[in-house]
Amino acid sequence: MGRVKPNIGRLKSDIEEISTFIDKTKLGHTRRSFTEEYKQARMWLRGKMEEVGLKTSIDAAANIIGRLSGSDDNLKPIMLGSHTDTVENGGMYDGTIGVLGGIEVVRVLKENGITLRHSLEIVDFTSEEPSEFGLSTIGSKGMVGELSEEMLQRKDNLGRVLSEAIDDLGGNYKAIKRLARKKGDVTLYLELHNELGPVLDNKRCPLGVVTGIVGIHRYKVLVEGESNHAGTTPMNMRYDALAFTSELILKLQGLCRERNSYDIVGTVGKLKVEPNASNVIPGKCEFEFEVRALKNEVIYEIVSEFIEEAEKLSKEENINIKFDNISKSSSVIINEDISGVLKDSCDKVAESMYLPSGAGHDANHINNIAPVGMIFVPSKDGKSHCPEEYTSYEEIEVGVTALIQSLISFDENLK
Ligand code: GLV
Ligand code: MN
Ligand code: MN
Repeated sequence: MGRVKPNIGRLKSDIEEISTFIDKTKLGHTRRSFTEEYKQARMWLRGKMEEVGLKTSIDAAANIIGRLSGSDDNLKPIMLGSHTDTVENGGMYDGTIGVLGGIEVVRVLKENGITLRHSLEIVDFTSEEPSEFGLSTIGSKGMVGELSEEMLQRKDNLGRVLSEAIDDLGGNYKAIKRLARKKGDVTLYLELHNELGPVLDNKRCPLGVVTGIVGIHRYKVLVEGESNHAGTTPMNMRYDALAFTSELILKLQGLCRERNSYDIVGTVGKLKVEPNASNVIPGKCEFEFEVRALKNEVIYEIVSEFIEEAEKLSKEENINIKFDNISKSSSVIINEDISGVLKDSCDKVAESMYLPSGAGHDANHINNIAPVGMIFVPSKDGKSHCPEEYTSYEEIEVGVTALIQSLISFDENLK
């Protein structure tokens, strides 16, 4: 079959249209999960899926699914997916190109008279980014039965409960466990995404075939010292929660840096200080940290060393500390048969290279029930999760072409 290409003008207009559903008071693109903008974008998206002839539904975890029937009812579906929520002050391509690229794939298949053997499911996963409930990849966790009752009862700052927020999006939290998909229910999961990092752009390489995806462990930490007057309390009589937290932040950095491997990273990206006043010694800090690596055992090792050292330090400095795990997602090593087919398909379209993913994805969870594969397109200057995030439409066109090529190849060869 000759190369089948997307209509990039049409995809561009879809990407631009969904990008109008944002919080306009924020920088860049902000479409936080469970907000009004998110709901509007999802409604628009569902309409778009229907418009291209997909049969749509919302599953128990509130994922939006558009289905195209295949010619062989005995085969389990191939899934293409990503997400439409963003971080605060984020970019306009992270997630959206995978979902809208999937819809474009459907249009192209139809226009070219191609009927796949497998049914195709285009999925917009609920809340891939860390939500206000402190949890990320909610939809993909839910789809494979990994959303625990404890997670479903978590609250956001407004006091909303996650289970209710899922139902508010059209899900059915009570049915999540029962309706979870099992191993063998899905033939293959493919995701097109911008790299979110610098490798492809640095190498001027248009396509990346992902070899592995980092695992991520996240924790919430409460540090309690004593607030007091910042002028009258001598340095040796203080229990400064923020100064202590700063020591911990550097400690975490050190534990990751000393391993000297570029996939091993640790970050404190969220911090609350109380009372947060210039002339009061901080009495309390709450922060969240995450550790990522391609090897799960490395994450466990760093986290346990960090907790051990923090607890030792807390005794020495008479400051209380408490750790609560938020989430643990396992790393993924992509099956070489899958990445091999992706590489061959990508090479037919443009130059491509193998690379691991330092970002987490819904694929981390879908991997528990089906083989997964990911194709990356470049992120300009390696920027993402910020307003400067950029991928050109020419680059997106190459990515979607590679996705179609790969899909056709898998459809022919997978049972
Ligand atoms: C997802 O965007 C992540 O935080 O890796
Ligand atoms: Mn992201
Ligand atoms: Mn993403």
